[in-house]
Amino acid sequence: MTKSNTREISRRHFIKGLGVLSAGITLMPQAVFGESRQPVKHAIPSSGERIPVIGMGTSRTFDVAENAAILTQLGQVLQVFFDNGGAVIDSSPMYGNSETIVGNLLKTIPNKGSLFAATKVWTDGKQSGIDQMQESMQRMGVGVMDLMQIHNLRDWKIHLPTLRQWKQEGKIRYIGITTSHGRFHAELMQIMRTEALDFVQFTYNIGNRTVEESLLPLAADRGIATLINRPYQRGALFRSVKGQALPEWAREFDCSSWGQFFLKFVVSHPAVTCVIPATSKVHHMADNMAANYGRLPSASMRKRMVEYFERL
Ligand SMILES: NC(=O)c1ccc[n+]([C@@H]2O[C@H](COP(=O)([O-])OP(=O)(O)OC[C@H]3O[C@@H](n4cnc5c(N)ncnc54)[C@H](OP(=O)(O)O)[C@@H]3O)[C@@H](O)[C@H]2O)c1
Repeated sequence: MTKSNTREISRRHFIKGLGVLSAGITLMPQAVFGESRQPVKHAIPSSGERIPVIGMGTSRTFDVAENAAILTQLGQVLQVFFDNGGAVIDSSPMYGNSETIVGNLLKTIPNKGSLFAATKVWTDGKQSGIDQMQESMQRMGVGVMDLMQIHNLRDWKIHLPTLRQWKQEGKIRYIGITTSHGRFHAELMQIMRTEALDFVQFTYNIGNRTVEESLLPLAADRGIATLINRPYQRGALFRSVKGQALPEWAREFDCSSWGQFFLKFVVSHPAVTCVIPATSKVHHMADNMAANYGRLPSASMRKRMVEYFERL
């Protein structure tokens, strides 16, 4: 089957799937919170631009073969994301086919005006970085990349001047750097102290809070936006609360699932700008996007959440 045939089939499956969706799940925030409710947004310190606090990741979940049934499902996942006020989509050339799948599916989404596209450079050498970033923009189908990040600090001294030049030329809007490994934190903090960055991305979740003493306060001090990866510790957090009841007081911050509990914990930290959970499932995306709305836990509620989680 040719690529264009595959795309046509996926488009037809996708449109068929939308009928099912429009009857139910995508309408959830309006149904739950009413038309007037707006997503919670946080400002990017370097510009003041406000972005919705719930974004999405694409590692593994969007690294799929161009199979019509899977594309239909992922198209619906993206549709639910945009229908519920989503904007930030994080990808990387490290995630196999993900940039391409995101780019192809975005062409089928009617209301993607809020898109804030983020990807990464993950290679050694200046020209190799330039070639890879150009390819990523083509694969994701964007003329300007909102955020370009250096993946896992890889060859960062070489890529940073290119990113600065591209930002000046208007090819990218923001510059960032990422990790998900504690062993890189010391070097990352040194970079944050000495280089001008718009964004930094790292892991933070209710089961892994070491960055509360290091990266988060430093990002706040330096005026760097934070993009938080692995908010579910790759799904492990759900396994640790399996069979456990959500506390009744979670309603006080408009939370009705463990997913929302974990996401609202992350985005209620004052130094967090946006979180990027990844899912391949439509109902999980609807669950995640419910955390884009309503009240956030206060500082004292956050302590209560940690105590409750640690007793389980
Ligand atoms: N160095 C880096 O730059 C770096 C490193 C790590 C991650 N990241 C970025 O951060 C993103 C998120 O991290 P991650 O993908 O490693 O892990 P994660 O978001 O913590 O967890 C993803 C897992 O949670 C499950 N899940 C999602 N929503 C759920 C819900 N509402 N209820 C139950 N299960 C749910 C997903 O399964 P289902 O598919 O079944 O929903 C998936 O197995 C990545 O996709 C990537 O974009 C970047």
